[in-house]
Amino acid sequence: MQILAIETSCDETSVAIVEDGQHVRALSIASASNEFSKKGGVIPEDAARKQVELMLPTVHAALKQASADMNSIDAIAVTKGPGLLGSLLVGTTCARTLALVHHKPLIGVHHTLGHLSSTFIEQELPEDSFPLLTLSVSGGHTELWLRRSHTDGTLLGRTRDDAAGEAFDKGAALLDLPYPGGPSIAKAAELGNEEAYEFPLPLRDDAGFDFSFSGLKTALRYLLRDHPPQDDREHANIAASYQYAIVRHLLTQTQRAVEAHNECAQVHIVGGVSANTRLREWAQAMMPDKRIVVPSSFDYCTDNAAMIGAAAYFIQQEQGTNAYDDFETAASMPMNV
Ligand code: KG4
Ligand code: ZN
Repeated sequence: MQILAIETSCDETSVAIVEDGQHVRALSIASASNEFSKKGGVIPEDAARKQVELMLPTVHAALKQASADMNSIDAIAVTKGPGLLGSLLVGTTCARTLALVHHKPLIGVHHTLGHLSSTFIEQELPEDSFPLLTLSVSGGHTELWLRRSHTDGTLLGRTRDDAAGEAFDKGAALLDLPYPGGPSIAKAAELGNEEAYEFPLPLRDDAGFDFSFSGLKTALRYLLRDHPPQDDREHANIAASYQYAIVRHLLTQTQRAVEAHNECAQVHIVGGVSANTRLREWAQAMMPDKRIVVPSSFDYCTDNAAMIGAAAYFIQQEQGTNAYDDFETAASMPMNV
């Protein structure tokens, strides 16, 4: 089954053609993040205007890359939310039009389910991978899921304030590093000592699996106010210590969930922050008897349409034709798939 998938939930315009939920025949991602890095963040109205221009050329680029035409496409999938409403509407309008004109079924996909599906792309995993735990960490959310199948899961914990990616992005702004903050803090941290400064461990005395990052951001603000870095080395030490604090909090909560759900043999880490090398290394070191699974390419960590195509296939496999019901597009929506 070949699915043409569209993802436009933030500043990216992405189109993929995915076969049977796993094989990427084409992936085209036109990102405007270079433009926004100079502005310190995404300006929603500008992002949507850019996406209107990029949408159809990106569809054509994906079809060309796969040497396909609309006759060989079995269904259209699109991110229905959550995200920036103007951006989402560019993608969903394009998807609805393609489905209508070419008489294809249309599958609306929750953005988070896309991320949760991303570890199954171009990667061999055992048939009986479920139940498993997924830590989903991006610029918009931070969640821990106990999953019984691709489309059936329980939300164990979530952030009470900022998302992990937001902690990187806001921290980078305080450190005068460019947006997006994750890659720029990771780069600055390479030359630093992560034990140079100690940040508090959030929710230390809380028994659950929630997250909180606003305290770390405030601690960074006070550290920079009280001890402004005198040279590049001190700056790198602060970046490294801050990254360490974010990763430590993410993995402390994940390890707690692993202990409570020891029946899970795999821990998946998805979303933009899963691109972080320190997070990957440390996850395996902290949970040596679990298989740590991250997306098979960095392209599948950050927002991309391939994960939407994968999720749409799994929805269709596990829920059949109900998946083709119409959907609403919305900036915020709970994930009940
Ligand atoms: O999943 P994503 O592309 O978009 C959302 O759905 O939000 O995630 C973007 C987030 C940004 O906050 C960015 O700073 C973060 O992922 N990120 C990273 C890294 N690469 C991207 N965070 C830490 N380390 C990285 N290497
Ligand atoms: Zn995302």
